[in-house]
Amino acid sequence: MLHRSLAGKAGLCAIALSLPLLPAPPANPHTTKAQALLQRMTLEEKIGQLSQIGGINFIPDALTPEQRVRLGQAGSILWLSDPAAINKLQRVAVEETRLHIPLIFGLDVIHGFKTIFPIPLAMAASWDPALIEKVQSTAAREARASGIHWTFAPMVDITRDPRWGRMIEGAGEDPFLGSAIARAQVRGFQGSDLSSPDRVLACAKHFAGYGAADGGRDYDSSYIPEDQMWNVYLPPFHAALQAGAGTFMSAYMDLNDVPGTANRFLLQTVLRKTWGFQGFVVSDANSVGDLTTHGFARDKRDAAYRALTAGVNMDMASRTYLDHLGELVKQRRLPVSVIDNAVLPILAAKYQLGLFEHPYADEALARQIVGAADHAKVAREAAVRSAVLLRNERQLLPLDKRAGRSIAVIGPLADSQRDLYSMWASFSGDFTKVTTVAQAIRAKLGAGARVESAPGVELRKIYPSMFDRMFGGPPKSAWTPEQADTEFKKAVDLASRSDVVVLVMGELSAMNGESASQTTLDLPGRQLELMQAVAATGKFVVLVLINGRPLDISWAAGHIPAILEAWHPGQEGGNAVADLLFGDAAPGGKLPFTWPRSAGQIPLYYAHNLTHQPDSAKDFGSRYWDSPSSPLYPFGYGLGYTRFAISNLRVRAAQVPVGGKVEVTVDVENTGSRAGEEVVQLYIHQQAGAASRPVRQLKGFARVSLQPGEKKTLPFSLGNDELTYWSAEQKKWIVEAENFDVWAGADSNATLHSTFRLIPPAAR
Ligand code: NOJ
Repeated sequence: MLHRSLAGKAGLCAIALSLPLLPAPPANPHTTKAQALLQRMTLEEKIGQLSQIGGINFIPDALTPEQRVRLGQAGSILWLSDPAAINKLQRVAVEETRLHIPLIFGLDVIHGFKTIFPIPLAMAASWDPALIEKVQSTAAREARASGIHWTFAPMVDITRDPRWGRMIEGAGEDPFLGSAIARAQVRGFQGSDLSSPDRVLACAKHFAGYGAADGGRDYDSSYIPEDQMWNVYLPPFHAALQAGAGTFMSAYMDLNDVPGTANRFLLQTVLRKTWGFQGFVVSDANSVGDLTTHGFARDKRDAAYRALTAGVNMDMASRTYLDHLGELVKQRRLPVSVIDNAVLPILAAKYQLGLFEHPYADEALARQIVGAADHAKVAREAAVRSAVLLRNERQLLPLDKRAGRSIAVIGPLADSQRDLYSMWASFSGDFTKVTTVAQAIRAKLGAGARVESAPGVELRKIYPSMFDRMFGGPPKSAWTPEQADTEFKKAVDLASRSDVVVLVMGELSAMNGESASQTTLDLPGRQLELMQAVAATGKFVVLVLINGRPLDISWAAGHIPAILEAWHPGQEGGNAVADLLFGDAAPGGKLPFTWPRSAGQIPLYYAHNLTHQPDSAKDFGSRYWDSPSSPLYPFGYGLGYTRFAISNLRVRAAQVPVGGKVEVTVDVENTGSRAGEEVVQLYIHQQAGAASRPVRQLKGFARVSLQPGEKKTLPFSLGNDELTYWSAEQKKWIVEAENFDVWAGADSNATLHSTFRLIPPAAR
């Protein structure tokens, strides 16, 4: 929950600050040691600690990283992942600098270090915080063994615009689900003791509002009204902080016309003053220097001043602090106390990580830990639990494993190792470890079945980005028009001579991530045409989607009997898909976003407000004349291989005083004949109040596993955390004595309904 008592003073309008000084962190054993060290440091050494230097020459520099470290001009290094290279630089810092201060090595360990897990959006679809904690603790173990101390994750940006390519890195559209997942990730990365050899410091990013970029265009400005900011975009950050996230990263974009990296409202008013954050803030890469590019800072010196005084402790990669902070202090434009306050939490984090005692990676141990076989098991489990079954007409899935059958695995992603994970979000991953869907089906069915695959179509991006050059993809169009027709025909012929067709379609890995937004949600390339041609063969067709955002699958949703959303599922994704298709595992994931019918519906999210003509009103069923305004699939939706009955929604007391807890229970029973898992979801609606409230809001969920015939009663509790909201009018958090609806069910269209009333405390 956001900090209710102080947040009331922190409306978006209340930003009148004088010269901002970063508040000194309170004393604890780490800060006490940091204080003592600080006393011995020169100004140059302090500024060095505020600077993070690229370990690879991504942003051109006249000096090598090693020279920078030797000169004391680096407190941290990013983008290295090889333990030998890390140790080499660490040795320079520890053995050759005057005060022997170790470096913190930071890297984007987003969905795995070497063992690659499903993309974060997929993991959110598991609705399983315990699984997510396990995944990120496994990633942390590999990273820390290799000398990484700090991950630039979790990304907790809410997004309601799937055109935005970075949707893959977050948990979708909902602040309640997003907060639960933010907490799980922080716990997974950090554990309870950062000095353990298997934990890394987490970084909640990108603070804040990056997911609301205009038009879904990466880096573009976000304009977020105050109530949306507090009620939707900030809660997952606060959840990460409460779970102990030691660092935050400022966002690239302008938030309400002020860049995230110089945004005092965010970095001071919210983060430090209201929430009491005591860790440190790192800028996003180059974003301190880029304050000039934004047309915000006059020059680089002004940029350094404005970022530091807004609350950015560490400059990631732009070297603007290195070049200008000394001068600002010498000219007396910047008190040295501001520098000291910025350095302290960085030094304290180094003590907390135990770096002064254990600065080096054990390279032999790293070789044993990284990519260990039991890590692959976690990756497979995560991919299974992330998958969402979108359609299963006549219970056609799971498929029969009987021998003698022929299976065609068709589509541009059927046999592509690179596209089963996000290359962009996994600098250190190794795509040669990935098992494709075609390989996995072949392995599962063995010699008894004929499994053939054909791409049918090829995919390519029209405008490649800088990252495509870095990661060597996406493939350029290699086929001539004649070849394209031949490959298309080959795939359709293969379908015609097979018993079952598994279509594996969606997006290239390079079609999402940073700088990879798009204008449509259409299936890229000629995939729809291929799907239609394959469906016309009359064979039984299953569609497996590999993607990082909802795509326009309206045609498939009406014509392809079985659709499994597998996302970019990671290195074990092919095996997980094979397990799910052939019934060795059952799907139980749920959508962490509302699935639009087309890009024209964006933004589309379930927690919208009622209008004066709600969808339920006669003759006002749609806001569009050319499409229903309802989604293709609702938030929280997903099928399984068994059936569940959710019943008996009970609210213990129909009236509860404001400040009390509303206790709710609901029964869930497996009424089918297979074991399975259901995610039971609880939604509320406040019927009237100081502000119009969303038509529904998720306020509880539980993923439960049930044998056939088994029944469980699930308890939920609705207290202040769930019932409060930020009133933009009153500039504070409020809980109101009003009537509420409550629903329980298997998705956000749940119909099982009850009500309760909050009454004023005095009326008790
Ligand atoms: C830029 C991205 O926005 C950020 O998320 C990432 O952590 C940094 N680059 C470092 O790689």
